[in-house]
Amino acid sequence: MNKKTFYITTPIYYTSGKFHIGTSYTTCLCDTMKRYKELKGYDARFLTGTDEHGMKVESYAKEAGITPQQFADKIAGMAQETWKNLDIINDDFLRTTEKRHETAVAEIFDQLLKQDDIYLGEYSGNYCMQCEAYFTPTQLLEGGLCPDCGRPTTMVKEETYFLRLSKYQDRLLQYIEDHPDFIFPETRKNEVVQFIKSGLQDISVSRTAFNWGIKVKSNPKHVIYVWIDALSNYITALGYDSADDSLFKKYWLNGDEVIHVVGKDILRFHAIYWPVMLMALGLPIKFRLFVHGWYLMKEGKMSKSKGNVIYPDELVDRYGLDAFRYY
Ligand code: ME8
Ligand code: MG
Repeated sequence: MNKKTFYITTPIYYTSGKFHIGTSYTTCLCDTMKRYKELKGYDARFLTGTDEHGMKVESYAKEAGITPQQFADKIAGMAQETWKNLDIINDDFLRTTEKRHETAVAEIFDQLLKQDDIYLGEYSGNYCMQCEAYFTPTQLLEGGLCPDCGRPTTMVKEETYFLRLSKYQDRLLQYIEDHPDFIFPETRKNEVVQFIKSGLQDISVSRTAFNWGIKVKSNPKHVIYVWIDALSNYITALGYDSADDSLFKKYWLNGDEVIHVVGKDILRFHAIYWPVMLMALGLPIKFRLFVHGWYLMKEGKMSKSKGNVIYPDELVDRYGLDAFRYY
């Protein structure tokens, strides 16, 4: 008898600092769900990993006086140690600096470019390095601050490639309407629908201002936008577009259930950019999104970049692993 398949993923976390209990929350959730599905007789697969490219890692490495790769190696090593200590049994750990990922992402970008879903243009607007996101003047808070995290943004004006989000707006809305359980919980779905209805603009998907990333094959002065790079991990880890894509066929194309678990901070990327990328690539959307809230500290969201964090090991030492995982 063929088992039903279940594929569950965490976000791939930025290697910008040691992982805290926010990150472990998502990871424990996925780990628990994977074990549960296995008990229920599924063939379950669990992926986590690290998002190692982008301006943020490059700039932190510079501060530390080491190369971005050395910086990422250090954090990715600590991450794997943390997951081992928390008894996380992931089946794969994808690092975006691995060849298997980089090659496939360059191909994905190239394909989208060739079929004109990506085109060359000029961007002028503001960039938030912490969120690795672009904003138009009307989206910014007063003083040019990032509407998501409230930090200062930098003005960028450069030649850039764009992804035609606008072209897919109606198809995406239709997809969400036809698949009522695509985004859970419903409040998050409503947020996404509202955002799409307010009008999707094409987004900038390459940078020339820094180096640390996957190069555009036909124009290597451009580095592929870190979110195009990162979102692809969910399929590159399965061997999409590689010599052996049997896992991709099994868990994605012919798979039964795929779940991406994410925090509400990265809802838009997963609910809009990622399905549009899949549609453009001619691949089935397949996944459902489970979106959770945040651990807060007095200063707001617990976050690596703010440094207002609690590390899991401290809690495990004090309360034990089972208590920690249960909490
Ligand atoms: O966004 N409470 O990575 P990231 C609960 N690289 N969960 C939290 C949390 C908190 N205070 N802080 C972080 C990125 N998380 C991208 C993802 S995926 C293709 C690329 C968890 O290191 C939560 O799952 O900023 C959140 O979405 C994720 O860590 C963000 O991790
Ligand atoms: Mg973050």
